[in-house]
Amino acid sequence: MRTVAILSQKGGTGKTTISLHLAVAAQQAGQAAVVIDLDPQASSAGWKDSRAAEEPVVVAAPPARLRQALQAAETGGADLAIIDTAPHSGDVALAAAEAADLVLIPCRPGILDLRAIGTTARAVKLAGKPAFVVLNTVPPRASHVLADARAAVAVYGLDVAPVALQQRAAYAHSLTAGQTAQEYERGGKAAEEIAGLYDWLSGVVA
Ligand SMILES: Nc1ncnc2c1ncn2[C@@H]1O[C@H](COP(=O)(O)OP(=O)(O)OP(=O)(O)O)[C@@H](O)[C@H]1O
Ligand SMILES: [Mg+2]
Repeated sequence: MRTVAILSQKGGTGKTTISLHLAVAAQQAGQAAVVIDLDPQASSAGWKDSRAAEEPVVVAAPPARLRQALQAAETGGADLAIIDTAPHSGDVALAAAEAADLVLIPCRPGILDLRAIGTTARAVKLAGKPAFVVLNTVPPRASHVLADARAAVAVYGLDVAPVALQQRAAYAHSLTAGQTAQEYERGGKAAEEIAGLYDWLSGVVA
């Protein structure tokens, strides 16, 4: 089982959106995915409540039970575990990074947002895990964004994932319906982006 932790100290960067979209992408690729929701707000678990499909499995767990939740996922045959976390959760972020093979750090593309990843970057460094910033809600036609973001996060020794997600209504609307963009708007631009992100991820944590 591969384990990916989705971390950012800042709120609203897209942790839950990316966790759920990657989990569904994995399912569609024939991989059994489990989302472990460590956020007391339980947004991922709430999404699952409104979802008709049985997969992916979403487990809400208190952070102190992370190890047991991961063990149960592995015993249950999961190929991929995605840990969704709360913002402002230093100790939990560190524990999630330690439990993961890879960390993804969703971040909006503004310079102030990019500079705010310092705390998350420190947790990742302490855990000694590979990590990538995933740019989210990138405006269309912003060709410099990826290069600018790379320069901004290089200070922390981090790189930016080559696939970024644009600001698209399908990401938000689909979750309201207990779906993800790949299901809500099959073949749409958001679905294409997520397929690209998942393909890249599969190569990095294979
Ligand atoms: N690429 C996107 N396009 C459009 N809306 C987006 C995108 N990514 C996230 N959103 C919206 O931004 C808001 C925050 O996203 P999300 O809940 O995934 O962030 P989060 O990091 O999990 O937040 P929290 O820190 O509160 O857990 C949500 O309303 C979501 O629908
Ligand atoms: Mg969230």
